[in-house]
Amino acid sequence: NKDQWIMGIETSCDETSVAIVKNGKEIASNIVSSQIESHKRFGGVVPEIASRHHVEQITIVLEEALRQANIGFDDLDAIAVTEGPGLVGALLVGVNAAKALAFAHNIPLVGVHHISGHIYANRLVTELKFPLLSLVVSGGHTELVYMKEHGHFEVIGETRDDAAGEAYDKVARTLNLPYPGGPHIDRLAQEGNPAINLPRAWLEEGSYDFSFSGLKSAVINTVHNAEQRGEKISPEDLAASFQESVIDVLVTKTLRAVEEYKVKQVLLAGGVAANKGLRKTLQEAFDKLPNVEIVIPPLKLCTDNAAMIAAAGSILFEKGVRSTMALNANPGLDI
Ligand code: KG4
Ligand code: ZN
Repeated sequence: NKDQWIMGIETSCDETSVAIVKNGKEIASNIVSSQIESHKRFGGVVPEIASRHHVEQITIVLEEALRQANIGFDDLDAIAVTEGPGLVGALLVGVNAAKALAFAHNIPLVGVHHISGHIYANRLVTELKFPLLSLVVSGGHTELVYMKEHGHFEVIGETRDDAAGEAYDKVARTLNLPYPGGPHIDRLAQEGNPAINLPRAWLEEGSYDFSFSGLKSAVINTVHNAEQRGEKISPEDLAASFQESVIDVLVTKTLRAVEEYKVKQVLLAGGVAANKGLRKTLQEAFDKLPNVEIVIPPLKLCTDNAAMIAAAGSILFEKGVRSTMALNANPGLDI
């Protein structure tokens, strides 16, 4: 039995990444070039700058990924690339690189959905057990995804406004913290008390949807009202209160879905999965549910990287999915 080698390419937002994954679960290399420094002074990702960086970085990152994995194009079974969702100009760099390589070296091409990549990051950690539920929390998405088998994704709940990461970044901006704000809020929250009363959007009974814009506005109002009264609010307490509200809703809805869908495993996914408070609360909640396994990936597999795209691509490749040279960036792609 020959080993399967997949190259993953990810350029949907502000990380240029190329990875080589063996048999869908072993990372041979996973090179990530981050542009965060270039976007920081603008307080968020600037699409034009992102595209330019990807163009500058893609070849360097690609060569390093092959070098570290110690393989050549002849060894590759497929090239998997993020086709969407994301920033169109950024996606195009990865998609065009993948198409050019697949064409030049006559290697099968597989387009991958970015969120399925975040979910499949977990297969680089452990064997997946179906049926499962994935809590996807990133800068652009907040979703509860039910999977009854490989490649089957059913979104049972999603955000109606801001994504969790987006709310973190906006709250961070209100507190004058640098972009991306998630890690800074997380750090402050560890030092504060959740003493400030903030809302939780449960939505209609039984709904697995999320909403974070009300919470975000409540934080902004709290800061402004205090300023007007000449009072000083503790940023640590505010961060802790905000974080508690986000985690409370995420974890409560996940636990309810676990019960209703009777899943065997829960996978945490996306950039906000790096959040220490969320990781701890989920772990504690699942310690009390011995029949359900919680998988919490290491930090470097939570944020954008190409190994997760190769892992998702591996399953599609095995299922016989192939993309043609007509593959295009699709910023609004559905999972
Ligand atoms: O998945 P990701 O790398 O990119 C997207 O596909 O969106 O997620 C980035 C998001 C940002 O909003 C960032 O602030 C957030 O993940 N994030 C965190 C933490 N680390 C990154 N949010 C909360 N706590 C963290 N420790
Ligand atoms: Zn992402």
